[in-house]
Amino acid sequence: EKGGYETFMEKEIHEQPHAVADTLLGRTDDEGRLVLDEVRISEEQLGQIDRIVVVACGTAAYSGMVAKYAIEHWTRIPVEVSLAHEFRYSDPIADARTLVVSISQSGETMDTLMAVKHARELGALTLSICNTHGSTIPRESDAVLYTHAGPEVAVASTKGFSAQITAAYVLGLYLAQMRGGEHAVNAQAVMRELRNLPEHIQTVLDRMDRVIEIARFMADSRSVLFLGRNVGYPIALEGALKLKEIAYIHAEGFAAGELKHGPIALIEPGQPVFIVVPGPDTPHELHKKVVSNIQEIRARGARTLVIAEDGDEDVVPFADEVIRVPATLPLLMPLLTIVPLQIFALHLATAKGLDVDQPRNLAKSVTVE
Ligand code: M6R
Repeated sequence: EKGGYETFMEKEIHEQPHAVADTLLGRTDDEGRLVLDEVRISEEQLGQIDRIVVVACGTAAYSGMVAKYAIEHWTRIPVEVSLAHEFRYSDPIADARTLVVSISQSGETMDTLMAVKHARELGALTLSICNTHGSTIPRESDAVLYTHAGPEVAVASTKGFSAQITAAYVLGLYLAQMRGGEHAVNAQAVMRELRNLPEHIQTVLDRMDRVIEIARFMADSRSVLFLGRNVGYPIALEGALKLKEIAYIHAEGFAAGELKHGPIALIEPGQPVFIVVPGPDTPHELHKKVVSNIQEIRARGARTLVIAEDGDEDVVPFADEVIRVPATLPLLMPLLTIVPLQIFALHLATAKGLDVDQPRNLAKSVTVE
């Protein structure tokens, strides 16, 4: 049942090209236009939306953060991301013009369910991005957009995450298409590139030998930091969460721009830091800014583990290790940059002799508030 892999987590990481491809399946017509037949909210209702609030927990909330950057850029609709348990009891503001998007692999997370129920009471439109057919959250929502990752068994979510990001992209591109004009033209171009991502993910998976070696060397690490910017920021948070969950190592993710506002004080000689570097085409010179962050921490003795696009030579002088991913559109990079961080956590935990599928103190779905 583990298909030749040692653990479910390893199997599920390797299923990501399929999880993404299957989540994209059937979502465009012959002309390449996005179709969302299964979403039972009319175009008219969707057209009236002036705000989106994403509610989710844990890894699903990080996929929501990726969604925020992408959907705002493609549609210009404001998107907020709220941890579901914080949203529910903060006296939140939502009405018929608010689309509340819940994201949940299991569809049974109680915190997320309570947020969805409350959003409905407030009169909001609710849409569930979910991986489990017939589960509670989609049943309690106005509409559902299923991810097609297949069953996820390991407690640490991997292919569920990639599929959630993919579904959120599809939703954003659909809304962009509805807005018409330039937005629609751009949506089709992005969709064409998104179709290449399963193959790119496979390329990353095929290149993981060095990351596995690094993970084994680092089995006795006490702390690992992760930096990212823009869509790389939630990837830094997710990379840190994976390491905490299955390897029980203190790990923290930061927005790279925050470094000098505090976290740089943590840098001492030998401190390992992963840096998720934006593609060189990312607007506002974010690439250059992150490269200078790498330079700053390297000068203070950090051991820099850099995740960068093929052909990005600017990072080389400041990197102890460069982990390469294929080039794609800046907003689509998370589907590639997360893979080495999943592999790293998996192999580090394995080297420590831990049960990666069933980490201590955790359950696959959290069904109490
Ligand atoms: O089933 P859900 O997506 O609603 O679960 C949400 C979180 O509990 C979940 O993502 C958790 O953070 C995972 N253990 C992460 O690996």
